[in-house]
Amino acid sequence: MSLSLAQTTISADDPLVLEALFELISHDIVEKGYSIRPQALPENLTTLLLQRITELPEENFKRAGIGRAKDHTINDFIRTDEICWINGNSSAGCAWIKWTRLLQEYLNKRLFLGLFSFESHFSHYAKGDFYKKHKDAFKGEGNRVLSVVVYLNQNWSRDDGGELVIYDQSLANSAIIEHNKITVTPSFGTIVVFLSEEFPHEVLPALRDRYAIAGWFRLNTSIANNIDPPR
Ligand code: OGA
Ligand code: MN
Repeated sequence: MSLSLAQTTISADDPLVLEALFELISHDIVEKGYSIRPQALPENLTTLLLQRITELPEENFKRAGIGRAKDHTINDFIRTDEICWINGNSSAGCAWIKWTRLLQEYLNKRLFLGLFSFESHFSHYAKGDFYKKHKDAFKGEGNRVLSVVVYLNQNWSRDDGGELVIYDQSLANSAIIEHNKITVTPSFGTIVVFLSEEFPHEVLPALRDRYAIAGWFRLNTSIANNIDPPR
């Protein structure tokens, strides 16, 4: 029996569609060290996450800091966004964690990355908020391996600012310096994945409320009584 297109509903969270997306992301990472995939996060998941982030009470969001554990400080010159860590307490949080687990399993199978754990937070940039050029991990620290960012903003226009700029150091010696910058519009459903130690990046000032999730896959670096990541 042949199926007409109208009878077939192919949804973005269909296992085959997900696997095709994960393969594209793997391929990008091998080729370039980063992957930018517009409209790639399943739409129902993106909608659920947007609902969750806009419903979360303002007091759940805390000023984001820089540095980990005892080195954690708030710095108005580096970043001004607010964050709320994601746990499995909401259906949106659960669905997100499930999706990231599938991605983790795929990348481990395909690229032998040895990703062990995942942590992520919602982020809210109000008008004027930014995050200056930084790296998510430093060589030798061996913790954050792969950064994942997804955007939850409907109808983001060029005039709304808030772009993610990724600096590709392998292109830094090219004749036209500007070419080492990759600029990403934070549009609904766009997924960005990159090697945490390799790519400095920044968030340009947003001109309206900007909602995203930033997350990191980590290696298992717990030794003896030192449980890592610290909570
Ligand atoms: C971060 C980050 C990028 C973005 O939270 O570390 O770089 O586009 N976020 O929100
Ligand atoms: Mn970052």
